[in-house]
Amino acid sequence: MSLFDVYPLFDITPVRALDAFVYDENEKKYLDFYGGHAVISIGHSHPEYVENINRQVGMLGFYSNSIKNPLQEKLALKLTQASGCKGYQLFLCNSGAEANENALKLASFHTGKSKVVAFKNGFHGRTSAAVAATDNPKIIAPINAQQEVELFELGDLKGVEETLSKKDVCAVIVEVIQGIGGLDEATSKFYRQLARLAKKYDALLIADEIQCGFGRTGDFFAFQKHGIQPDIISMAKGMGNGFPVGGILIHSDIKASHGLLGTTFGGNHLACAASLAVLQVLRDEAVLKNVTKMSEYFIKKARQIPQIKQIKGRGLMLGLEFDFPIADLRKKLIYQHQVVTGSSKNPNLLRILPPLTIQKHHIDLFFNALEAAL
Ligand SMILES: Cc1ncc(COP(=O)(O)O)c(C=O)c1O
Repeated sequence: MSLFDVYPLFDITPVRALDAFVYDENEKKYLDFYGGHAVISIGHSHPEYVENINRQVGMLGFYSNSIKNPLQEKLALKLTQASGCKGYQLFLCNSGAEANENALKLASFHTGKSKVVAFKNGFHGRTSAAVAATDNPKIIAPINAQQEVELFELGDLKGVEETLSKKDVCAVIVEVIQGIGGLDEATSKFYRQLARLAKKYDALLIADEIQCGFGRTGDFFAFQKHGIQPDIISMAKGMGNGFPVGGILIHSDIKASHGLLGTTFGGNHLACAASLAVLQVLRDEAVLKNVTKMSEYFIKKARQIPQIKQIKGRGLMLGLEFDFPIADLRKKLIYQHQVVTGSSKNPNLLRILPPLTIQKHHIDLFFNALEAAL
């Protein structure tokens, strides 16, 4: 049986990884400045992470959500402490798309409405409501196109208000920093006004923190810089450091009822063990402070390279914009210099999404490789 061929693949086969490095079957070592697409938060195979998952799988890997699972409550407590977000409830699922799908569904249940406001260049996943709110017609199948979604430029408050004022919108969903779209972020004024407008017209504000959350910007959540309080916050990626886990934080004004949401695997024992290990390491190793420090160091070095026309993003969610398409540069970096990086919708933007635990020597390695490749 062949694999359903949907991914254009780099010709590399990683078999193990440690911290910021990935090793192929010939022990060739690659510097991971891509983090498997912003997933690796505490570094590959962190010993505490490995131990926590091993210990848990030896005890109880999975049982149903119809039975008590105190690990979920522990995760909710630790998430409150790590994020500082008080007055939220936690629902756990398995991926980013599922988190957004549940967030949108909940907004619709809560408000009794169905239209969604989203933003151009946004990405929210590939399930039905999430993909309909994603600005990429190529991945929206006819079955998804039935959703009512209006897309606006990030920053267009006038357009958003015109639509919201019709009072048929259940949710406004926004990536505070757009990932695949190319690392654009609006002003604090915009996000505050957006929150105000959502409230005014009885729509829920959903912050998609799947890529920019869990410490990637140096704040626990990217929206925290803007002083807003979203109604729902969706998370995944860095939350499990590679273990599939996602979730939504739901404001306490939104009431639960039995059967409203549900999942077989979401929040299982292993997923909780993975995410608890991530939170523990973020705290013990002061990882968020490291993100801020390493980001400053990275940006300082990037400014010394004349070919870089713009540096975008925050923390360790960064983009280097050139005045030429970066596809060949990215290939050179990976095949000739063993450095893995990311791309985006903007063909000139090289995306940098390393583990949040990187140190200066990793950044030095990256810039040596980049200069040689350029
Ligand atoms: C901002 C954002 N939202 C949602 C998703 C979807 O997450 P998943 O691929 O886990 O379904 C992604 C994945 O890249 C993302 O970057």
